[in-house]
Amino acid sequence: MSLSEQDKSWVNDTCKKILEKMSGSIRRNEGKIPYSTDENGIYDDKSSDKDIMWWTNGFWEGILWLMYAQTGDSYYKDKENQLESILDKLLLGEIDSGIDSLHHDVGFMWLLSSVANYRLTGNKQSRTRGIIAANYLSSRFNIKGNYIVAWDGKERQGWSIIDTMMNIPLLYWASEETGYDRYRYIAMAHADKTLENIIRSDGSVNHIMIYNPETGETMETLGGQGYEVGSSWTRGQAWAIYGFALSYLHTSEGRYLEGAKKVANYFLAAVAEYDYIPPIDFRSPKEPLYIDTTAGAIAANGLLEIAKHVPDYEKEQYLNGAVKILKALTDKQCDFTDGIDSLLQNGSEAYHTNKHMSIIYGDYFYMEAIFRMNGLEVNMW
Ligand code: GLY
Repeated sequence: MSLSEQDKSWVNDTCKKILEKMSGSIRRNEGKIPYSTDENGIYDDKSSDKDIMWWTNGFWEGILWLMYAQTGDSYYKDKENQLESILDKLLLGEIDSGIDSLHHDVGFMWLLSSVANYRLTGNKQSRTRGIIAANYLSSRFNIKGNYIVAWDGKERQGWSIIDTMMNIPLLYWASEETGYDRYRYIAMAHADKTLENIIRSDGSVNHIMIYNPETGETMETLGGQGYEVGSSWTRGQAWAIYGFALSYLHTSEGRYLEGAKKVANYFLAAVAEYDYIPPIDFRSPKEPLYIDTTAGAIAANGLLEIAKHVPDYEKEQYLNGAVKILKALTDKQCDFTDGIDSLLQNGSEAYHTNKHMSIIYGDYFYMEAIFRMNGLEVNMW
């Protein structure tokens, strides 16, 4: 990728600031698996038996692996290894709810913890954890409908969501690792179903699609975490950009790259109107304006991934888009001061909860994007 000399220097400086800040933050939060910050900027902890199934519980481990990969300091590796043992309670059923409390987000949870561990250190026990998680995710595939079901509950058997595109790289990894194509077949069946039914013709994306679980026919869309039915929840658009780009990375099937580009083109045109800091939903009222920085950080990674795969004459558009988003986030939405645990401020869970806070995946994706632009070549997905 070709960044200008000025941008290279900016990325390098930003990377140093992140390393310094997160080195302190991680040491203050040893043993925790944070989700969000409180009103004093302190990370909470979701590692208790009650919370351990929470879908974001791999991002902190991912942050530790990014820090390890960037610095080579085994402190980060050792701290992450302790956290994987806590996640084991779910895979091994050591707590009451155990495996029954799991969901499609096992991709986020185990790709960024155990699979990253195996990829970076060769840890065999972590490889096993990754395969168990992939087996579980495969079991959520509805063979009559050709989709992976997002959550459990008899009434939600037809529910499929755009976010799952970020979980299926766990299945691609399992195929590549074991040599068994069946994982990849499931991932591609799900990706094809999503491409056909969840991406809209204008490049915007639904959040939730309800299929008939016996036939796979589309029945209803829901607004989900966005403003309303038919709106355009920016984090969902970002999951689609990065998710389809990753499906292309693992399969080389051009339709996935085209899907990623279609949503990316829509996203770039829309976010330019907000000075590159996404609102929670591109189709919500302009006033009051509620933003979601996490959507920007995720989309930036998707744009960087697309830029890797398109011909030179298309690269600049995606690379420049990523740089503009990341500069806007860095200049206006990042807190590099010591004492505040998180980097990226003003994330949002959902439009209608209207609670603004730092959320761990905002920090994770912001770090991934800056480190990648600074030359770090680890594939976390
Ligand atoms: N997967 C849920 C979210 O993006 O908030």
